Amino acid sequence: MNNDELLRRSLQAVWHPCTQMKNHETLPLVPIQSGEGVWLHDFDGKRYLDAVSSWWVNLFGHNNPRIKTAIKAQLDQLEHVMLAGFTHEPVVQLSEQLSALTGLGHCFYASDGASATEIALKMSFHYWRNLDYEDKTQFVSLQHSYHGETLGALSVTDVSLFKDTYAPLLHQSAQVPSPDWRLAEAGESAEAYALRCAEALEVHIALHHQNIAAFIIEPLVQCAAGMAMYHPVYLQKAREICDQYQVHLIADEIAVGFGRTGTMFACEQADIKPDFMCLSKGITGGYLPLSVTLTSDEIYQAFYDDSVARGFLHSHSYTGNALACSAALATLAIFEQDNVLKANLAKASYLNDKLKMLEGLPIQHLRNTGMIWAFDVQTSDAQFQQRCYQAALQRGLLLRPIGNTVYFMPPYVISGPEMDSLVELTAQIINELV
Ligand SMILES: Cc1ncc(COP(=O)(O)O)c(C=O)c1O
Repeated sequence: MNNDELLRRSLQAVWHPCTQMKNHETLPLVPIQSGEGVWLHDFDGKRYLDAVSSWWVNLFGHNNPRIKTAIKAQLDQLEHVMLAGFTHEPVVQLSEQLSALTGLGHCFYASDGASATEIALKMSFHYWRNLDYEDKTQFVSLQHSYHGETLGALSVTDVSLFKDTYAPLLHQSAQVPSPDWRLAEAGESAEAYALRCAEALEVHIALHHQNIAAFIIEPLVQCAAGMAMYHPVYLQKAREICDQYQVHLIADEIAVGFGRTGTMFACEQADIKPDFMCLSKGITGGYLPLSVTLTSDEIYQAFYDDSVARGFLHSHSYTGNALACSAALATLAIFEQDNVLKANLAKASYLNDKLKMLEGLPIQHLRNTGMIWAFDVQTSDAQFQQRCYQAALQRGLLLRPIGNTVYFMPPYVISGPEMDSLVELTAQIINELV
């Protein structure tokens, strides 16, 4: 196999995600043969630094020996068994560990982030229905939110490029102002702006709570919105408002969970417990598809009944897949054994220092939360996103800007010299393009 042959065959046979396939007439696919640490290698000896952790999933590098060993050991034992009517050791261990970490005692599994969102939305609606609150059929989310692409998840997503075409198929939902601190007025602090947005949330919920089942939110960073970051006080206020008006709070930690924001889960920074927490992406260290929706005893008990229909009858064939659970257990073990959150603090501080070399470039809103960095490039070039992506690839760097926002979400195993090249190459690219 070589690069050219794989590209030709891929364009014939594979419909690639989130892509206008015609663009590949001019923008080549990137063929990947193997991975090692932060690097992805093609067939012809070229390598790319994976600064986006392969769509935010990879935590401890490609070809990680510990996760690989755990999956291999599980493969010799049991690859999969359906989870309805059956159970197995990895799923029980993982559920116990996730419950201990989140304080939410019940784990419902699926394979992708969007499915975890669907489950949270359906469970919330069904909970209220079981309690005879039949009118609670609506959901609220933030402006510019992203919760996945299936119809339920897309209904609470607010990205017009992904949503508008499918509008006739979607459930109505309401969006409230995003506490993204870039939207604060001149002289207004991130905290003051977050409090102002929380007031808008309260006005909406006070008016419509009888019809609202849940408020769904990406805690601390709205990643797909262009790494929009906000003050944790918004989460505290959201928790209070949801409690006051009997509305569930769904924390979508699919992108920000597992250390991305500096704590294991972003909600910890606001010291709040959501009613539902959705996890995926980093849960298996980026190895296998797995997602989970966690919820409280109180919500679980509302389904526990003699009536089958009052139970949560949702399912997916691969729910709680044993191989994926074993990868997740290995991932959690690495967090503990290597004191990852502490080590990441030092890495983040190193990269923040290094980013000072961007001073003087036409960028604004340089921001950082945990192991996520972003800045906005001041350019009127409508093609910036694509040109930046291509210029980075030419230099052996995988960047995937969102509009004019360039961001880094590297695997946690990134080394000092790798962080140096990440920033140096990015500076060269911005200099070249703007
Ligand atoms: C916050 C958030 N929720 C949900 C999803 C959807 O996850 P998946 O792509 O695995 O369906 C994503 C994906 O980027 C996400 O960032």
